[in-house]
Amino acid sequence: MRRKLVVGNWKMHGNVAANKLLLDGVVAGTRLLSNVDCVVCVPYPYLSQAQSLLEGTNVAWGAQNLCATKDGALTGAVSPEMLLDYGCSHVIIGHSERRSQFHETDDTAAARFNAAQEVGLTPIFCMGETLEERESDWTDFIIGRQLDSIMRRYGVEVLAKAVLAYEPLWAVGSDNPATPEQAQEVHTFIRKRIARCDVNIATEVRILYGGSVTPANAAGLFAMSDIDGGLIGRASLLAGDFVSICRAANN
Ligand code: PGA
Repeated sequence: MRRKLVVGNWKMHGNVAANKLLLDGVVAGTRLLSNVDCVVCVPYPYLSQAQSLLEGTNVAWGAQNLCATKDGALTGAVSPEMLLDYGCSHVIIGHSERRSQFHETDDTAAARFNAAQEVGLTPIFCMGETLEERESDWTDFIIGRQLDSIMRRYGVEVLAKAVLAYEPLWAVGSDNPATPEQAQEVHTFIRKRIARCDVNIATEVRILYGGSVTPANAAGLFAMSDIDGGLIGRASLLAGDFVSICRAANN
């Protein structure tokens, strides 16, 4: 039985005062939830704040990206070890916004995935197709290619210590979530593809759905057999909404 996981992706939002209110609300609202893991992925400058407010609570924290290199002359980059210094457990890798706006490729995402695991961080590896790709019936091809970019380089075993996220680009940041059936279909595809290499890992790996998840649609999505939780953007910025989604996963 896979335990549900809900991850908040704050993206480039927040400030010290608002974060405190948000995190206090999330901590209070999730305190009694025992069947779900909750994580928030915050902007780098707020990792220290997240650590001080979340240590010892039900909520873990992480970052939204990292640099695959340990250290060096890389202005503006943040290394995996630096995330460990702030108590991070998770890091989002290969989000579609990184791929589309920051020139992230399958190669660079795979290198970051590996760098995260090398220091013991759990990568949350994002995959997703554009609307055009979906309409051309390329969804399986695109998702397969993105998944294979990890398995081909590092083997199926690395998925045992990773989280996968299906995030169709047409659903992210829109008001157009995938239906539970659409998401389930892709999650099943992902699990079957992993099962060709290792049935146990395919059975155990958690696959999150992301893209316009709200308190209103979360329960329907989480009821699907291959959807193990959510990667939540906008709704993670409101404590009440994020807590409602965590509750839906807890039930
Ligand atoms: P959204 O973002 O929930 O605002 O659609 C999801 C994501 O990008 O992770």
